[in-house]
Amino acid sequence: MRGMTISDVDEVLSIEQAVQAYPWTRGNFCDALESGYLCYVEEMAGELCGFAVLMPGVDEAELLNMAVAAAHQRRGLGGAMLMAMLKLANEMRLPRVLLEVRASNLAAMALYRSLGFVEISVRRDYYRNTKGSEDAIVMACDIPSPLTSPPLAGDGNKEERDNG
Ligand SMILES: CC(C)(COP(=O)(O)OP(=O)(O)OC[C@H]1O[C@@H](n2cnc3c(N)ncnc32)[C@H](O)[C@@H]1OP(=O)(O)O)[C@@H](O)C(=O)NCCC(=O)NCCS
Repeated sequence: MRGMTISDVDEVLSIEQAVQAYPWTRGNFCDALESGYLCYVEEMAGELCGFAVLMPGVDEAELLNMAVAAAHQRRGLGGAMLMAMLKLANEMRLPRVLLEVRASNLAAMALYRSLGFVEISVRRDYYRNTKGSEDAIVMACDIPSPLTSPPLAGDGNKEERDNG
């Protein structure tokens, strides 16, 4: 994994447009880079095959976007990138990572749960879709410090929070 640069945006955008029904625009990626968000890409044999964008805050970080090119999915890349984002947050002493995901995105939710994210609230009708709208599921991962392994199911980090 390495930092994303402006010259990666064409390839990042082509992955985004291929795998997301409602993709970020070029402007969204450029804004993320200009804002100093933590933007990373994953390469294999010189080919860009995934990316992740993490927005650090005061007490927590938010995973704004991540995707893996279709040809590279289900090989552990998404999990590796997500784990790297948790490590980055941990290094910045941000103990919690939040994200929002479409309620229909079962693949992403399965990935997030596998690394210790739990559902903390629902934003009703937050995203548009072909039927009009769908809910956003808000998920959070409390990062154990030091982070030595994924915060797996069964430890204290999987408990449901009461703020949503
Ligand atoms: C979500 C996404 C990033 C996962 O990337 P990936 O590299 O395929 O994920 P991994 O191979 O690391 O999968 C890790 C685990 O997540 C779960 N998972 C991933 N894809 C899944 C799928 N299609 N169906 C069910 N579970 C899935 C599984 O538990 C998987 O472990 P397993 O393969 O041992 O069963 C990828 O599917 C993607 O880019 N989707 C489109 C963009 C997107 O939805 N981004 C997230 C919201 S912004």
